[in-house]
Amino acid sequence: MQNSVVVTGGCGFIGSHFVRLLRTARPDWRVVNLDKLTYAGNLANLTDIGESGHYRFVHGDIVDSDLINGVVRDEQPWGIVNFAAESHVDRSILDPAPFLRTNVLGAQVLLDAVRQGGIKRFVQISTDEVYGDVQTPPDEEATLRPSSPYAASKGAADLLALSYHRTYGIPILIARSANNYGPHQFPEKLIPLMIRNALAGEILPVYGDGAQVRDWLFVGDNCTAILQVLEHGRLGAVYNVGAGEHRPNIDVVRAICRLVAEETRVDPQALLARIQSVPDRPGHDRRYVMDSSRIRAELGWTPATPFQDGLRTTIRWYLEHQDWTERVTSGDYRAYYEAVYRRNWGAHG
Ligand code: NAD
Ligand code: TYD
Repeated sequence: MQNSVVVTGGCGFIGSHFVRLLRTARPDWRVVNLDKLTYAGNLANLTDIGESGHYRFVHGDIVDSDLINGVVRDEQPWGIVNFAAESHVDRSILDPAPFLRTNVLGAQVLLDAVRQGGIKRFVQISTDEVYGDVQTPPDEEATLRPSSPYAASKGAADLLALSYHRTYGIPILIARSANNYGPHQFPEKLIPLMIRNALAGEILPVYGDGAQVRDWLFVGDNCTAILQVLEHGRLGAVYNVGAGEHRPNIDVVRAICRLVAEETRVDPQALLARIQSVPDRPGHDRRYVMDSSRIRAELGWTPATPFQDGLRTTIRWYLEHQDWTERVTSGDYRAYYEAVYRRNWGAHG
């Protein structure tokens, strides 16, 4: 069907924003959201979207080839967008195995389903981390030099997708985005973790000297880029998606302190005093930046959300949804937190 899309990982952070964008911007499309519901996948991210002729949820694993082939056979989708992944670098340092399984074998299962024909567009969601630590902004043809097991697994999936395009001629596209932030992000990544800890009265743990630079992209802007790639991207092409909002981590954490203080009417000094340097992450990349001129020139995409605005929107969302944060940090979160923030990477558990 021309207007049917399978979104994998649609209950996670970026995937849930993308499902919502499709339902609002392309209301006549049918969206099938296939998600394993790991710790990072949350049905509560999509409570506003009910099952209908235009939306179906499938609880399942992308590594399960029988399930994937069955969904493709039943739905005959026009496109697939693969968000499903293990997505956190620190977890990949604790245990790389689930990253290889989902991010590489899962991608292979989906690519093999595309090989069977019928699907017109397969978008692999990738990351700037595949380029590794960079000084000069890489364009899409730059060599991949991933540093973490997470980044290596994402790079492997990109290479597999490109190899399938060349060998089997299947219609793949790749979107490599910068660090996303926004509502519904699991509080293990920098921005939501700092907001959570600021609100919970806990320390704000900055890795090493805090001078590492990331390019911060508001999740809504990434989703509009992915939709452009899905509909209009050149088959076989890679698109870098960066916002050009480069900031050292320490500046980001201080900005969060000031905005949380403003929004909650507390003394900013009290929050700033809770910033603590903790031992660095092993293999930590100092700097991610990308040359994103291709997507701007070819597809006319530009980010719409300045960092200060996106950060304020994000902080307000977490303030208004503290029940969401409570819920997603109830289960195994404490054990994870202790494992990472004890900074004893070899001894998980
Ligand atoms: P997330 O961790 O919030 O969500 C991942 C989702 O995938 C969850 O809903 C989870 O249940 C699901 N999932 C995990 N394993 C699965 C499996 N085997 N089968 C089916 N579903 C499975 O991740 P996110 O931050 O939303 O990232 C989405 C994608 O974007 C990932 O591919 C990630 O590598 C990429 N990416 C993320 C960022 C970022 O800043 N968050 C930046 C660049 C690229
Ligand atoms: P993160 O959100 O994990 O994204 P990535 O490592 O994939 O870019 O981390 C963003 C930056 O923030 C990274 O340089 C690591 C740093 N960081 C901290 O300093 N403290 C933290 O508690 C976390 C989670 C990250």
